[in-house]
Amino acid sequence: MKPKVLLTRRLPAKVVDLLKENFELSVNPYDRALTREEFLSAARGMDGLLPLLTERIDGEALDAAGPGLKIVANHAVGFNNIDVPAATARGVAVTNTPDVLTDTTADLALALMLAVARRVPEGDRICRGGSFPEWNPQFMLGADVHHKTLGLIGLGRVGRAVAKRAAGFGMKLIYAPHGECPQGGVDPVSGAKCLSLDEVLAQADFLSLHVPLTEETHHLLGAAELAKTKPSAFLINTARGPVVDEQALVEALDANRLAGAGLDVFENEPQIHPGLVGRDNVVLLPHVGSATAETRIAMGIKAATNLIALLIKGEEPPDCLNPQVLA
Ligand code: DGY
Repeated sequence: MKPKVLLTRRLPAKVVDLLKENFELSVNPYDRALTREEFLSAARGMDGLLPLLTERIDGEALDAAGPGLKIVANHAVGFNNIDVPAATARGVAVTNTPDVLTDTTADLALALMLAVARRVPEGDRICRGGSFPEWNPQFMLGADVHHKTLGLIGLGRVGRAVAKRAAGFGMKLIYAPHGECPQGGVDPVSGAKCLSLDEVLAQADFLSLHVPLTEETHHLLGAAELAKTKPSAFLINTARGPVVDEQALVEALDANRLAGAGLDVFENEPQIHPGLVGRDNVVLLPHVGSATAETRIAMGIKAATNLIALLIKGEEPPDCLNPQVLA
């Protein structure tokens, strides 16, 4: 008998076919996220779960699946939706989807940087609204991106991929580490200079967030931190919304203590703080950092590969976050 797996949202056919070849697959039949009750009931009796970041996988969910559950293969690199210690305590492996979305997410961070600094969505709205005036040398002046200072907060896979792209724009690279600075004070991969968070906040023309959401990084940028930025700086967030105190961000924008923001993630998705909507100096995207056809297939295949490794081959999944459960 094939192991039972629950897929909580429809994924590309290539991914679903691979899952069906290997598992007795249950798929969310609706074109929407499952309610909590629907999810808890669908999880019952599963050997593996393939959830998205919209599903909270906590002790209750793990217990609802029952003692047969062996693996939760998250369809995201971020795993703040999963209580990993609770899974570990129950002997359940947890995996994520690193690497395959690094470049795609970094591309989007650059897109937000360019869009907000060069006022791309605003210009598009003007053209569509039929209010393109005659060419005017003082019209729609934005800010240069090239040769400015990029301050990365966190320098993991995506942060480094952003640094690589920014180097092509001649940007000066500085970063505040999620941890300690390396010996010598320079990241050996990107060449970015390691500084304290306060120094990065004070020096950066563009701040780009690349830390995971944890208890430590929740509201990493609050009112006190946002008071330290240059008034001409732009904030880019493609990481997780709650890393920024959204109310404090709105207040900083209201007070012109920040020039603008490019945001792909929000504190209470899918809600967006009303103080962000309707401002021309803020570019908003609906959490689409990894949303390309190619990358979404690659993420699905990666999650499926993790399930197959454990449930079919009896091996350690390649992206296991708590390998101690397999020891
Ligand atoms: C992730 O993978 O963590 C993204 O936020 C969703 O694709």
